[in-house]
Amino acid sequence: MRATREDILAESGRILSLMASDQLTAAQGERIVQDSLENFPLYVTEAILKSRKSYADQVGVAEWSDEGAVFRDTQGVEYIDCLGGYGVYLLGHRHPRVIQAVEKQLHRQALHSQELIDPLRGYLSKLVAMITPGDLQHSYMVNAGTEANEMALKLARLATGKKWFISTEKGFHGKTMGSLSATGKGLYRTPYLPLVPGFQHVPYGDAAAVEEAIRQLELTGETVAGVIVEPIQGEGGVNIPPDSYLPALREICDRHECLLIIDEIQTGMGRTGTLFASDYVGVTPDIMTLGKAFGGGVMPIACMVTKTKWWGQMEDNPFILGSSTFGGNPLCASAAIAAIHTIVEEDVPAIAKEKGDYFLQGLQRIQQTYPELMVEARGRGLLMGMEFRNHETGYQVAKSLFAERILVGGTLNNAQVIRIEPPYSISYGQIDQVLSAVERSLQK
Ligand SMILES: Cc1ncc(COP(=O)(O)O)c(C=O)c1O
Repeated sequence: MRATREDILAESGRILSLMASDQLTAAQGERIVQDSLENFPLYVTEAILKSRKSYADQVGVAEWSDEGAVFRDTQGVEYIDCLGGYGVYLLGHRHPRVIQAVEKQLHRQALHSQELIDPLRGYLSKLVAMITPGDLQHSYMVNAGTEANEMALKLARLATGKKWFISTEKGFHGKTMGSLSATGKGLYRTPYLPLVPGFQHVPYGDAAAVEEAIRQLELTGETVAGVIVEPIQGEGGVNIPPDSYLPALREICDRHECLLIIDEIQTGMGRTGTLFASDYVGVTPDIMTLGKAFGGGVMPIACMVTKTKWWGQMEDNPFILGSSTFGGNPLCASAAIAAIHTIVEEDVPAIAKEKGDYFLQGLQRIQQTYPELMVEARGRGLLMGMEFRNHETGYQVAKSLFAERILVGGTLNNAQVIRIEPPYSISYGQIDQVLSAVERSLQK
């Protein structure tokens, strides 16, 4: 039932005054937690509270502020962020350079008219062309990774006139209908079947399986528009393919005249020690998708970038078929421009490599001490994973780390592989702190 005008104003006013406090009192902090525990089951979903694996027994933690490699709860207790928003916080929380650009932009213009020329979209697209490999040149800006992949899939069909896609088992490309069709995890797909037709999933890291799938489809009169793949599977459990994988896919796509779509939404912008994970093996895709860290950890923005020969020939088709009200808006674009500047200026990929190597060596030393609990520690740069013997062990580790004020990431509904994706600004002292905590949790 609709509330009265007075009640709506009282409630929204109360929330605005909490948001306006520079420093919450202990009572305000407690009130926010209590409000949240009431609001989520009633107005969002209780499932969110239940699914927070790392602190299932400690649900009274609501995040309220953040900076650098840490976030704080409503009582000001600090947590080291080793989950990093699954890739969002490469530059850390509220990097000053990004905040400065966004604040300036906010005071001038936030969104755009939809009709006139919005210059920041052009500037950002030019910068994307400057940082991406080969002849990737034309960008299409959206709000989330899944939308970038939607356009990538649509463009592959438009540009080739062909139909099928090859994607990979355990691959993750988002949860809208098209991207979900490419996603290779039954858990996310089953409730929505039937999805978009024309997707075949093959084992990840196996180029011969891609070739065989294309051969079978072509033999039976079908056509293949593209192959969509992550350079390292994130959500799938930090799965790193052989170095020969992406070059082989490049060659297969060229031979079969279909497009190679590399989803760098989680791996991109420097996290894995090179600007893009596909740079590691020097492969240029036909379409690359970016998201998460693309907005500098401050604004939500994602992007699809492609070559003139695929995009340019469409005249005004892709824009009309793919326009997005908020995609590439000035405020988000300002964040992405500052993010690119910062990543290049500070050589974030090199820092990610150096800190990632140190972190991973520490995890591997621990793995060798507890091989009966941890099967493997693997990763590249600041995208790492600890694989445990079973889900329960991973869950217990995540939980005990959280008790020590360290947040790590399980994969949704499965903690067998715990992901570690900290900001580049994590200090060596903080890395040592995390390593000691992992060791203590395994001792327990
Ligand atoms: C590789 C990859 N692609 C696509 C997505 C979807 O991005 P979004 O959640 O912004 O739609 C994700 C998100 O985790 C991802 O990791």
